[in-house]
Amino acid sequence: MPIIVEPQDYHEEDLYVDLEETFGRRLYLKCEGFNFAGSIKLKVAREMVAAVERSGRLRPGSILVESSSGNLGVALSILAASRGYTFVCVTDTRCNLATKQLMESLGTRVYTVVEPALDGGFLGARLRYVRELCESDDRYLWLNQYANPANWQAHYRWTAPAVAERFPDLGVLFVGAGTTGTLMGCARYFTEHRPEATVVAVDAVGSVAFGGPPLTRMIPGLGTGVRPPLLDESYIDDVIHVPEADTIRACHRLARKGFLFGGSTGTVISGAMRWLAEHPAYADLTAVAIAPDLGERYLDSVYQRGWVQEIYGPGALDLECEEQTQHDPDRTVRGAGRAHP
Ligand SMILES: Cc1ncc(COP(=O)(O)O)c(C=O)c1O
Repeated sequence: MPIIVEPQDYHEEDLYVDLEETFGRRLYLKCEGFNFAGSIKLKVAREMVAAVERSGRLRPGSILVESSSGNLGVALSILAASRGYTFVCVTDTRCNLATKQLMESLGTRVYTVVEPALDGGFLGARLRYVRELCESDDRYLWLNQYANPANWQAHYRWTAPAVAERFPDLGVLFVGAGTTGTLMGCARYFTEHRPEATVVAVDAVGSVAFGGPPLTRMIPGLGTGVRPPLLDESYIDDVIHVPEADTIRACHRLARKGFLFGGSTGTVISGAMRWLAEHPAYADLTAVAIAPDLGERYLDSVYQRGWVQEIYGPGALDLECEEQTQHDPDRTVRGAGRAHP
């Protein structure tokens, strides 16, 4: 039983869910959501803050600033609170309300960009705002997860070795691509230490990371409107793109089994299952996928029936999922006790 002093000292690095019962194919899902930040980004926040502390660039009065769709913002809020730094998070309207409230509860100032840039979408608009802040006041210190090598190094140091140790016979690893920090840290590690393992990137349809055309995307975390500076495709064996409707279906299928994961986990699982079906030569090989976070931050989006149907159409949830009753005002019970006199 670990006893910790600072919140960033705890992270569950060795928890996997076997998805065979839910999806009919053995796939081990590495759960990264069990820490005080609730996501894999805690490792990145630790690594980036440690790097800036070592660099000597942090001075009294410095203000850490970062653009985040949510999870890194929460992780940095925790680091900043625990270390006594001021932190400003620039996010956009796709960031969940609960995530914003979490950051604010931890003492972070949150700015929400409400309009996407013509080129670069919401991410482009967020980055422009961060640059404007930094130009307006030299106390701002931008950690810049999109270009900071500490981002992929966190996964090279922690995530990938944990998978390699647990699965010495790893055949294929599926990793979602946002900033591509997780992907590049794992891909570099396996290229150097286990070149026989295949690393597959999973991206959202509409993301430009691997050169596809930009399309509107509603689920935060995976995918990007700006090509990620950290991405080096020479380390990646294959890429698969997943429509958001498939993401939603995978999330709801898992929820029906009692596992509530975040949107990008649905994307990664959906992409992994399709890729495995298309590659029968991998049928007997060990397959692992990374789940960046859990589902509670997505109760007002991925797991809300009205939101899903408005965006993806009335058929987006299959009948089994339609039976779910969350947030259905018609199920409100008044006069409790009368049903069983
Ligand atoms: C919810 C979610 N999805 C996807 C990702 C993708 O990770 P990366 O930015 O390392 O590509 C992250 C990163 O933490 C995440 O929190």
